[in-house]
Amino acid sequence: MCGIVGYLGDRQAYEILIKGLKRLEYRGYDSAGVAMIRNGNFSLFKCKGKVSDLEETVGMSDHSGNIGMGHTRWATHGPPNDINAHPHLSNDGSLVLIHNGIIENYAPLKAELINRGHEFKSDTDTEVLVHFIEDIRDKTGANLFEAVRIALSEVIGAYAIVVMDKSNPQQLIAARKSSPLVIGVGKDNEFFVASDATPIIEYTRNVVYLEDEEIAKLDRTEGMKIVTISNQHKTPYIQELEMKLEAIEKGGYDSFMLKEIHEQPRSIMDSIRGRMNVGTGSVRMSGVDDHADRWRNASRILIVACGTSWHAGLVAEYLLEEFARIPVEVEYASEFRYRNPVIMPSDVVIAISQSGETADTLAAIELAKDKGAFIFGVCNVVGSSIARATHSGAYTHAGPEIGVASTKAFTAQVSVLYLLALSVAVHRGVMKGERLNRLMVEMNSIPDKIAEVLKTNDAVKAIAEQYKDSTNALYLGRGYTFPVALEGALKLKEISYIHAEGYPAAEMKHGPIALIDEAMPVFVIATHGASYEKVVSNIQEVKARKGKIISIVTEGDKIVKELSDYAIEIPKCDDSLVPLIAVVPLQLLSYHVAVMRGCNVDQPRNLAKSVTVE
Ligand code: G6P
Repeated sequence: MCGIVGYLGDRQAYEILIKGLKRLEYRGYDSAGVAMIRNGNFSLFKCKGKVSDLEETVGMSDHSGNIGMGHTRWATHGPPNDINAHPHLSNDGSLVLIHNGIIENYAPLKAELINRGHEFKSDTDTEVLVHFIEDIRDKTGANLFEAVRIALSEVIGAYAIVVMDKSNPQQLIAARKSSPLVIGVGKDNEFFVASDATPIIEYTRNVVYLEDEEIAKLDRTEGMKIVTISNQHKTPYIQELEMKLEAIEKGGYDSFMLKEIHEQPRSIMDSIRGRMNVGTGSVRMSGVDDHADRWRNASRILIVACGTSWHAGLVAEYLLEEFARIPVEVEYASEFRYRNPVIMPSDVVIAISQSGETADTLAAIELAKDKGAFIFGVCNVVGSSIARATHSGAYTHAGPEIGVASTKAFTAQVSVLYLLALSVAVHRGVMKGERLNRLMVEMNSIPDKIAEVLKTNDAVKAIAEQYKDSTNALYLGRGYTFPVALEGALKLKEISYIHAEGYPAAEMKHGPIALIDEAMPVFVIATHGASYEKVVSNIQEVKARKGKIISIVTEGDKIVKELSDYAIEIPKCDDSLVPLIAVVPLQLLSYHVAVMRGCNVDQPRNLAKSVTVE
């Protein structure tokens, strides 16, 4: 959601900005723009559409300059069009600004500025902010750095911004609150700014993650200076990035999503590596071990998350209740934060987020923290806002996920939550010995089993061919496979735009059964396990109404296969681990259907990878 890139140095800014914006395309956006300073003037280009449309807009125009900013906008205030695209100019055109986030009090600020003679061109809250900064600079005589600080102290909302003044091609100002911003530090006062590290890593590994309410002045002669909104000086903490460039490139695959689906045997291994020792029968999760009392004495566990991460939370609910015998509630973060929930100091809250930046999840954490609960984060992005806001946690180590529809991040989350459930169960004294060991051995075998499942790709593609023109689809599961049904349906609707619903198989008869006819594909996860016979009955109910059955079954299955129009076999495993492997054919299915329908699988319409607004 909104991507920011900035550059200041000896190189040509435009090339770096465009390449950086392309690296950030995965975040989701609907318009793009750049601004450079050349001979004391801005060269500013922006348009609705993709970064490639922006390149066409720039065409042969002069785009030289050693300082500049680039932006991809995900519309909030006003439709995606050329005028609302960023960057935005101040009233006198001396300042230019890009912004990710929402300025909540933009309306009264705008009214006041209009009274003072300002004229606005766009519908955006962002344009109000740059006018406001100019107004403060002109009223107080402050320099830009100070004017930005004063302006931000009066702003309510979330932001990551970059600002520059056309009369000073030596300086960029960057600031953040609740929206991420990273500064890359090159040699001889060369600086890069970006929403995440992906546009920066090919130039430098040294980065500074700005904290909330920090403002950075990046200056070719003076270097970097950071102050807080309350005007306290901060010493920049430069860290070295470990991310590899290959991790953010397609590596021979047609899309990031396909690459990420195929990475799962490795990414799951990375998620569990070093965290369990089958030989000694021990699970090591430092975020649990270091706070053992909180977990032992927890009266309940609350899980907050959004989207696919919420589905991983549902799997965790089943795991924690089964293994650790502790009550669990799973909440959409956006509902939780606004419904005055009962939160007790004895609660443990698990916040799950791939990006670690989801605004609603972050707000839910702050709410629970205020009430004294202990917060444990499960994040993929190292150093992200949620990782920093929690008391402890576990990284999923899945590597960068670029496809908007989450795949490897989901299986990595479930893997980490699996070990977490085992670890909590051990600490609470309700799991040990042979059962613990057997489950760890089974968990260890999951990467190989997923490698097996990936071999069903051609069979899944043939099924996709049959159902690619459907207008609706139903996904059914029970017990551990119910969250998989939800996730399968979400994947299909996200990237192929086919309406799909996930349902608990037994609940079908209370509504969705009315939709079933010969045109309705029903995807059923019917693996061997506790609910197998029950699911067979549910399949019969669909068959009786002429629905098409596409099943995910355990290898060697006969009964469901016979009832199915198509069946995909997956390796045998403990019930509790089925979500990890059963989801893979459903990811592949959505992928193939979307490709066959001509959809952009990596950047589906209207969606954002990192949802930094509520
Ligand atoms: C967006 C993404 C989803 C993701 C959800 C939660 O909607 O498109 O793929 O599951 O946000 O994101 P998080 O980063 O918190 O897991």
